[in-house]
Amino acid sequence: MLQTIELTKRFGATLAVDALSIEVRKGDLVGLLGPNGAGKSTTISMIATLLEPDSGKILYNGQDLMAHPEAIRKGLGFVPQNIALYQDLSGRDNLKFWGRLYGLKGDLLKRRIEEVSEIIGISDRLKDKVKAYSGGMKRRLNIGAALLHQPEFLIMDEPTVGIDPQSRNHILDAVKALNREGMTILYTSHYMEEVEELCRTIYIMDLGKLIASGTKEALLAAAGGGEEVTAKFETVSDALISGLKNLNGLIALAQTPEAPQTVTLSFGGDGGHLKPVIELATELGHPLLSVDVSKPNLESVFLKLTGKALRD
Ligand SMILES: Nc1ncnc2c1ncn2[C@@H]1O[C@H](COP(=O)(O)OP(=O)(O)OP(=O)(O)O)[C@@H](O)[C@H]1O
Ligand SMILES: [Mg+2]
Repeated sequence: MLQTIELTKRFGATLAVDALSIEVRKGDLVGLLGPNGAGKSTTISMIATLLEPDSGKILYNGQDLMAHPEAIRKGLGFVPQNIALYQDLSGRDNLKFWGRLYGLKGDLLKRRIEEVSEIIGISDRLKDKVKAYSGGMKRRLNIGAALLHQPEFLIMDEPTVGIDPQSRNHILDAVKALNREGMTILYTSHYMEEVEELCRTIYIMDLGKLIASGTKEALLAAAGGGEEVTAKFETVSDALISGLKNLNGLIALAQTPEAPQTVTLSFGGDGGHLKPVIELATELGHPLLSVDVSKPNLESVFLKLTGKALRD
């Protein structure tokens, strides 16, 4: 559906987007993950034809957007990072304004406002002025505005930054539901948990460059995969240690002389290693005092590839 080929944009000395090639297939929910200044907003602004690339190409359904910007405009919903709403108008009037811009009117516009408000969960606040909304409500309304014309392709620029958990969950659920119903979505974020939860295909960028891409599973496997179980026992014995060493999938067992009752077990492959540890401990009569299981996540992928943390 969408393809960027070596897309590049400079702002003076800053190479904001550096030969970026990504692909969004029809029906997919694609995450563009990167820290502040990675070039996410610049990239999607070019895709939305709001900003002209210095070089490279963007193809939408096979059409070159430099020559045919209209090819994407009609079917595109764009949720900008900065909220674009009229504070003194009600939620309904804001949606009316955006709907008319998209050429909707009359009963169709009315119906779409009802439908969209339902999706984003603001139906009961439509008559209130936007200035009385919380940050999360404003974000939801901003998303609603981008959905009125039933776009086939939705681009969202960090739609959950700085909002309350309830609004955030509502937005994530709406994104999932829209995608389930067939909408293709490109979702940018610097929250790896969100992208991990939502997206099937993930692109990770840093300083304008693509540094990794693939399914969540492929990216996590590239970071080493596996699972680490840290177990604290009341007491340990040679039998327990040798039993743990024989567990399926164990790669390494670590124990420090200062705290020999705490054992760190590194497993390869998929998860599910906690249960055999508990079973063995019970069988050998070594009660567990505490246990902690950790898995590699997109944060570890980013850390591994760039040597720095994803968060600021
Ligand atoms: N209009 C502009 N003029 C000059 N520099 C810009 C402009 N827009 C972006 N940049 C620079 O380009 C780089 C990429 O910015 P961009 O906004 O695309 O990143 P981002 O990944 O969206 O970051 P954020 O998470 O902060 O929104 C940054 O170094 C930024 O300062
Ligand atoms: Mg941005």
